[in-house]
Amino acid sequence: MTAPALELRGVQAAYGDAQVLWGVDWQVNPGEVVAVVGPNGAGKSTALRVVAGLLRPLRGEVWFHGERIDGLSPDQVVERGVALVPEGRRLFAHMTVLENLLLGGYTARARSVRRQTLREVFELFPVLAERSGQTAGTLSGGQQQMLAIARGLMSRPRLLLLDEPSLGLAPVVVQQVYEVVRRIALQGVTVVVVEQNVFPVLHHAPRGYLMAGGRVVAQGSAETLVRTEVVQRSYVGG
Ligand SMILES: Nc1ncnc2c1ncn2[C@@H]1O[C@H](COP(=O)(O)OP(=O)(O)O)[C@@H](O)[C@H]1O
Ligand SMILES: [Mg+2]
Repeated sequence: MTAPALELRGVQAAYGDAQVLWGVDWQVNPGEVVAVVGPNGAGKSTALRVVAGLLRPLRGEVWFHGERIDGLSPDQVVERGVALVPEGRRLFAHMTVLENLLLGGYTARARSVRRQTLREVFELFPVLAERSGQTAGTLSGGQQQMLAIARGLMSRPRLLLLDEPSLGLAPVVVQQVYEVVRRIALQGVTVVVVEQNVFPVLHHAPRGYLMAGGRVVAQGSAETLVRTEVVQRSYVGG
């Protein structure tokens, strides 16, 4: 049996004295696209930060392809093949598209194949090739999200973590983002997508986790999650 791509076992985490994760378990298989949904403050971004090595868990373990990675530095986690595309994109607005992309490819894992990766990324995002000399701040919101994802891909991840990729985008642009996610997954990359906005992501990810109050409160197919009380109450207004 092959090991899961990503496994969280009883992860607890805090900011200072304030504990916000209370024992989170996720299991994601290689090549899967998994959604993590839940209302604002549920702990979704915190869980991604733990995976990315940006926050040490208080308790619990994080495993990546059979190797324990909690306790590694963020750089070491990127080097293993995990890329986090953070909420809000965090681009360098005054740098060009190309400069932003090259910053994503600095690891040893990625450096030697950077030209090849850049070609692949431009194939996936032709608009970024057209605009490679423009500063990132001049791109539309959708193009900036594409650039943030593309920058993540420059590190040649096996696991891509997307935090709120659809935030602030028009529905038609959200569709374009998810079409790109589908193509990335087809290339064998495992994807975990965190979204407060449940419906687009559950349309594109066959299964997921629903988080609330720092815990996983439901898991399963998109249909299962949509029927839960939390989603009905928080999103459907039932
Ligand atoms: N840097 C921080 N310092 C202190 N508390 C934080 C910080 N980031 C998030 N929190 C708190 O942790 C909880 C979970 O936040 P977060 O993981 O961002 O949730 P989500 O991504 O699901 O909206 C919230 O109560 C939030 O206020
Ligand atoms: Mg968040």
